[in-house]
Amino acid sequence: MIILGIESSCDETAASVVKDCREIRSSVISTQIEEHRKYGGVVPEIASRRHCENILEVVKKALDDARITLNQLDGIAVTYAPGLIGALLVGVSFAKALAMAAEKPLIPVHHIAGHIASNYLTYSNLEPPYLCLVASGGHSHIIEVLSYTKFRVVGRTRDDAAGECFDKCARAMGFPYPGGIHIDNAAQNGDPRAIKLPRPAVAGNEFDFSFSGLKTAVINMLHNAEQKGISLNKNDLAAGIQWTIADILTDHTIRAAQSLGYEKIALAGGVSANSGVRTALQSACQKQGFECYMPEKNLCGDNGAMIACQGSYNLLAGITADESLNAVATLSMEDI
Ligand code: KG4
Ligand code: ZN
Repeated sequence: MIILGIESSCDETAASVVKDCREIRSSVISTQIEEHRKYGGVVPEIASRRHCENILEVVKKALDDARITLNQLDGIAVTYAPGLIGALLVGVSFAKALAMAAEKPLIPVHHIAGHIASNYLTYSNLEPPYLCLVASGGHSHIIEVLSYTKFRVVGRTRDDAAGECFDKCARAMGFPYPGGIHIDNAAQNGDPRAIKLPRPAVAGNEFDFSFSGLKTAVINMLHNAEQKGISLNKNDLAAGIQWTIADILTDHTIRAAQSLGYEKIALAGGVSANSGVRTALQSACQKQGFECYMPEKNLCGDNGAMIACQGSYNLLAGITADESLNAVATLSMEDI
C-alpha cells in the first residue's frame, strides 16, 4: 500500500510518500518560519498564500523523490483538522482535486492523530493500545490510543498549550519565534533550581494541565527585574521553565498511565523535540516500569510522513472522504 500524505495546517507545507504504513519513501517540508519570524508568530493570511504557492512543487517533489507516479498511489491523505482554517483549506482543496483527477481514495487525517502516528514511523513494533502525551504549539493532551483509529482524551490544557508557553516565555526573554528551541538550547547551560517558578494547580480533572500561570509568572519576573535594573540569568530561567514544563507533563502522564493501567507511554507533537521533556519522560518511565516511545527528532514537528502513515491506517479501517470534505479549525479527536 502506497499513500501520499499532505500537511498544511500551520506554517509548514509538507508532503510524503509512505509504503506499507511505516516505510518513508520520501518526505518534503517547506517551512515558512523565516517569513513569520518578523511578526513574532504565524500570520494566518501569509501562511495560506505561501501554501498556495508551494503546494504543487512540494507534492511533485515528494512523488519524484519516491519515484512514484500518481497511478501507483493507493490513496491521498490530507490533514483536514484542526489548524488555521485558511491554511488547512489549501491542503484539503489540493488533495480533493488530486484524488478526483487520479481516481484515488481521499483520506481525511486529524492533525493530532498524525503526530501520534510519527511514533509508528520510528518504532516498527509499536501497536495500540497505549497512552500518548501530545504537546505542540496548539495542543497539550493526554490521549488513550485505543486502536490505530480510535482515541479518548483523558487530559487537556485548560489554557495555553505547552509549546505556546515555551514560545511566549521565549518571546518575553527576547528570543526569536518560535522560541521553544532557544529555551532548550539556553537551558543546557542553566541551573533549573536557581529560579523558583510556580506549578499551577488545576481543580477538577486531575490529568488536565494549565500553563498560563507559569507564562504570566515568567513575564512578571522579567518586568520586575527590568524595573529594578536587575539582570536575570537567561540560562537559569530557561532551565527553570523547561524543567517545570517537563515535570508537569511527565507527572500527569505517568499518573494517568498508572490509573488507567497502561504499560506503554508515547510522546508526540512539536514539544517532543525538547531535550528536557524527552529526558524527564524517559527517566520517569524507566523508574516506574513503563515502556517509553518517542518520535525521532526529525519527525517531531509537522511533516507529511506522519499524515501518510495515519492515512494508511485510516484507509485500512475504511475511513475515506468524498468531494464534500471540508477543513475544520477546531475538532476534538473523539469526534473523528
Ligand atoms: O507540532 P508543531 O510543529 O506545530 C503544532 O502542531 O503546533 O509544534 C510546534 C511547537 C512550537 O511551540 C515550538 O516552539 C515547539 O513545538 N518546539 C519546541 C522545541 N522544538 C519545537 N519546544 C521546546 N523545545 C524544543 N526543542
Ligand atoms: Zn503539529
